[in-house]
This record gives sequence, structure tokens and C-alpha cells, in this order.
Amino acid sequence: MASKLPEEIGFTHPPVDALREQGRDLAGSARRHLVLVGMMGCGKSLLGRWLGRRSGLPTYDLDRIVSRREHRSISALFEEKGEAYFRQKEAEALRWALSAPAGILSTGGGTFVFEENRRLLLEHGVVFYLEAPIDLLEARLRKSRGRPLLAAAADCRQALQELLERREPFYRLAHVTIPVAQQDREELGERIWLAYGERTRGAG
Ligand code: S3P
Repeated sequence: MASKLPEEIGFTHPPVDALREQGRDLAGSARRHLVLVGMMGCGKSLLGRWLGRRSGLPTYDLDRIVSRREHRSISALFEEKGEAYFRQKEAEALRWALSAPAGILSTGGGTFVFEENRRLLLEHGVVFYLEAPIDLLEARLRKSRGRPLLAAAADCRQALQELLERREPFYRLAHVTIPVAQQDREELGERIWLAYGERTRGAG
């Protein structure tokens, strides 16, 4: 089934020659994934798609991959099978994405918190932490229904604050921290793309 996933999730891998071409264009950078980590609501998925269009590289969104593979939304998966099952599927999706041609990889908010996931991401990717202030996260997530970890919370801000406090030390282990408060997506995307190029130039 895994071999059908690229088409299922809305992209096709560029032919090998095109990838090699990109590898040369980027001075070898196509060999490491550009990885986005950070809290839910910080913009990983949207920015990942923008970077995919900007770069022409394949995009991988772990939540989307899990959701497609499991034929249900992430919320339904949490509800029906529990968080442990989701984490297992998330870890599998991560391994699959890391074995596919290098591209833009958007993780879920919890992915990078798990030690083995983190080790793999730091080894195979250039990891960017999108650091968003709590006000921004709250404003974006207050009405969100697709976030199972917030669904049961009486106080969305407090739940976010607690998660952020627990997770921030792990997010800080990313290769690069990018504050996301003020910029628009394009500005942010260009900064990340530039930093990725700087980090990978000459690596190939
Ligand atoms: C989670 C974040 C979600 C999704 C799941 C768990 C988390 O992804 O993976 O609901 O643990 O923070 P986003 O960060 O894309 O919302």
C-alpha cells in the first residue's frame, strides 16, 4: 500500500533525473529533507505547501499521510484508537517519508517530542522550529475542531501553554529556530528556504 501513497496524497515524485538536476541546483541539498516542527497552529502544513511550490520538491505532511493511510481524520483516529495508536502510525509515516526522495516535511506538533523521531529527523533533515507566541497559537486554534489534544480542554489557552512548556525544550533542539510572529508566509518561506540552502550547500 505504501507505494501508492505519493499519488494518494496529491503529489508525484519527480523523475530521478529531475531530482538529480535539483540536487545539482541546490548543491546537494536535495539529499536532506527540509523539516518543519513546532506547536499545532504555528503554520507547519501551510508553510510546507508553500515551500513545496517554491522549491519544486516533494512535500510530505505526516498528519495527511496518517489520515490517508487510516482512512479517517486525525480526530477520529484519536477517538477510535487512542493516542498511542496514532503515535505508532505517525512514527511509521515519518520513517516512510524519510526513506522517500528528500523534500519538504511537515510534522505534527508532537512528532519531534519523541526521542527516536527526533534522532531520525536531526540526522536526515535540516530541522526548523517555527516558534510562535502563545497569543498567535490561541487565536488560530480557539475555534479549531481538528485538534484532539485541545478538544477536551476547558481552557484552550491554558492547555496550549502547558503543552508549549513541556515541548519547548525539545523544539529548541532543532537546527534552526525561526520566530513566526510578524512575517507573512512568503517572507517566512523565503527565509527558511535561504537558511536551508546555506545549511546544505556543499553537502552533496
Ligand atoms: C498533535 C498535533 C497535530 C496532530 C495531532 C497531535 C500534537 O498536528 O499531529 O493532533 O501532539 O500536538 P498539527 O501540529 O499539525 O496540528
